[in-house]
This record gives sequence, structure tokens and C-alpha cells, in this order.
Amino acid sequence: MNSKRGIHGAWSSRWTFILAATGSAVGLGNIWKFPYIAGENGGGAFVLVYLLCILMVGMPIMMAEVMLGRCGRHSPINTMRYLTEKAGLHGAWNAIGWLGVVAGLMILSYYAVIAGWALHYIGHMASGTFQGVSAEKADSIFNTLLADRNTLIFWQTIFLLLTVTVVIGGVTKGLGVAVRVLMPQLFVLLVLLLVFGYQQGDFARGFSFLFSFNYKALTWEGVLEALGHAFFTLSLGMGAIMAYGAYMPEHARIGRTVVAVGFLDTLIALVAGLAIFPIVFANPTIEPGSGPGLMFVSLPVAFGNMPGGLLFGSVFFVLVTLAAWSSAISLIEPAVAYLVESRNFHRITANLLLGLLAWVVGLGSVLSFNVWSESLIAGFNFFEFMDFLTSSVMLPLTGLFIAIFVGWIMRPQSVRDELSDESDRVFWLWRIIVRYVSPLAVLVVFVMGIYKTFS
Ligand code: TRP
Repeated sequence: MNSKRGIHGAWSSRWTFILAATGSAVGLGNIWKFPYIAGENGGGAFVLVYLLCILMVGMPIMMAEVMLGRCGRHSPINTMRYLTEKAGLHGAWNAIGWLGVVAGLMILSYYAVIAGWALHYIGHMASGTFQGVSAEKADSIFNTLLADRNTLIFWQTIFLLLTVTVVIGGVTKGLGVAVRVLMPQLFVLLVLLLVFGYQQGDFARGFSFLFSFNYKALTWEGVLEALGHAFFTLSLGMGAIMAYGAYMPEHARIGRTVVAVGFLDTLIALVAGLAIFPIVFANPTIEPGSGPGLMFVSLPVAFGNMPGGLLFGSVFFVLVTLAAWSSAISLIEPAVAYLVESRNFHRITANLLLGLLAWVVGLGSVLSFNVWSESLIAGFNFFEFMDFLTSSVMLPLTGLFIAIFVGWIMRPQSVRDELSDESDRVFWLWRIIVRYVSPLAVLVVFVMGIYKTFS
């Protein structure tokens, strides 16, 4: 079953892998989600925990995922099956692949709804709705959108169509190129917003909100959210990076690659936070903890009040859509690869079927922003529940299993062979972290976080 190249092809170089992995990692998680959950959890201390999680849990597990994928050369489900069969291990480890595929589709379901907001905002910006807008006005425009089911469903549908269209064509060419050209522009625009925030907003307060450690604001629920977000933002714990690793060239150093992706991803999240919070604090009507609408209210205020802002604003939301798009393809690719490999599906049928599934489940999230906003499951509305179940439960658990599998179950020699291009120092440091630090951290945070959430 295993060969040096899988059936789905391979990236042309390590650099293409970096682009694809960065494309997957950098998305709504960085620009939309990170700032709003940092806001809900009181800022500084949350950000510190998040950074620690990226370093001690996220990057080591990312290395493990890439390694597993490159070793197995198949969709995550079959990669795990191959690795367990080869080593004569219990089939239960295949759950890693399955959990991932299910989590990916669940995330995609609501991801498409939020990406739909960004799509809708492109036109809003271009048509001048936000010209000179106040924070109150921006807030009411956003709430009008949330109340309008049909518009939400329309954009959600468009986004899913965009996603499956690319995945039908195979991942390598389309988005790989787009990501290389466009990500730097997104970054430039974020820096422009940062400059605006610095000049016009309350930069000092925004900065100290994000970087001063007020421990009192931190709860175990918040720590669990930070850990879950470290997985979410690096696209870990669902096989996306494993699937991408399967297409990686054989002799590429995984360690440095992972550091590059993790660094870029973190940088973009922090810059997004630094761009958003100064504007939030300069406008008392916007609460830092106001939730998923945070960037859709605060950034239009900035764009609407800067020279040339409407043009920049539409370009900004185009780029956010692209960032979301290059992430969404990695949410569906593992499931597609599996259906193609093992169930004889054509790529087109597999995509349409899975896209439809994500669409139907996504309707629940659409409704949770209006008619179902009061229908709660365990205290969460449908969107919040999907988000909690995936980011705070499924991703960390899969990540824990991956760390245990790689650190304790696989033969150390097989692991060393697969990582033979790493220096001894890097390898041993990584191995100690993946054996002890990451699993323990995930376990403690998970148990405490779940306990506190439901007690
Ligand atoms: N990392 C992406 C973001 O931050 C989302 C994403 C893409 C993802 N693929 C994933 C999250 C796999 C978890 C698992 O927007």
C-alpha cells in the first residue's frame, strides 16, 4: 500500500508545502476568531496561554502530523490504517483519522457561514454603506445581516461552491499559487489597519489589553479555549496537515517547515488583534467581548473613516475571503481523499456530496444567528455548540491521541527514520515535548476546562 509517492500526487517542493500549509493555517481563525475570543477572555493572559500552547503543543504536534502523513502517504484514515497494520497495532488508533474527518466537516459547516459574511461585506464596502460610519451604525448594519436568513444562506452557498470547485480540480495548482500572490497583500492591508489604529484609535489600550497579563480574567474555560484555538489556527487535530504531509517531498526538513508555518500564522493573528482592539477601545459602543461580530463591526468603522478606506475595505474583505477559501479546502480534502481512495468515488461526486452535507449542517449555524438564537444545547446556541465541540473537544482529543501514538506507541526507530533529516538536538527536544509536555498539557487543560464548563 505504501509507496514513496501517494496516488494523489505531491507538492513540487518544500516551499509549495509551506505555502499550502500556511494557506490552510491562516484563515478566519486568525483574523476573525482570535481577536474575538481574546476579547471574550479578557485579553493578555489568554494571549499568553495561547502562545504557550502554540509553542509547546501546536508546533510539536504539527511536526508529528506532517511526519505521520509523509510516512503513510494517504488520506488520514488510510494513513493511520497503514501505520497501525504495519506495526501490528490495535485498530482503535484509526479513530484518529475518523475523528478528524468528521471534525473537518463540522468545522466547514459553520466556517462557510462566517466566510459568507466576509463575502457579503465586499459589496457593502464597495457600495459605500460604511462611508463615515459610526460604531453604532456599523453595529446595526451587522445585526441587520444576521437577521436576514436568506442572505446568509446565499453567501454560505457561494462560499461552499467556491471551495468544492477548487478541491475538485486538485489542491496543488489553483490555491497554491493564489496563496503565494495574495497572502502578502492581506498582510500589508492588516499593517495598514494597524497604522490606522495607531493614529486614530486607542492604540495604547489595545496594546495593553492584548499583552498585559491580567490573570484574574483567566479561567479554565478560557485556557481550554486557548488550547483549542491553538489547534484550530494551525489546522491541527483533524488530518488536514496530515493529508498535506502526505504530498510532501521525501527529504524536506519537517522541523523548520513547521516553525515557518507556525510563526507566520501567529504573526498574522497578533497583527489582526493589534489592528482591531485600538479601534474597539476608541469606540465605547463596541465591547471587546462582543463575540463573533467583533471584526465585522470594528473594522468597517476604521475603513469608513480613512481616506480611500472603501476601496481598501473591499480589497480587505476579498483577501479575508481568499484566506478562508484556502483554509476551507483543507477542511474537506481529507474526507474527499478517503472517499476517492477507499470508496471508489469520483472526485466530483465526493466533493458535491460532502459539500452538500456541510451546507445542510451549516443551516443550523445560520439559524442560530436569528430564529434559533435562544435554542440552547448545554448553554450554547447551535453555532457555539459546533464550535465548542470541534475546537475545544475533538481537535484537542485527536491531538492528544496523535502525541501518544507518535511518542509512545510507534517504534522510536521508525519515528527517527522518518525524521532522519532532523539534527539529533532537534529530534530529541521534539521527542521529549511530544512524549511528556504536550500530552500532559492537553490532558490537564481538557479535563479542567470541561469540568468547569459544565459545573
Ligand atoms: N486554520 C484555519 C483558520 O485558522 C481553519 C482550518 C483549516 C482548520 N483547516 C483546519 C481548523 C483543520 C482545524 C483543523 O482559519
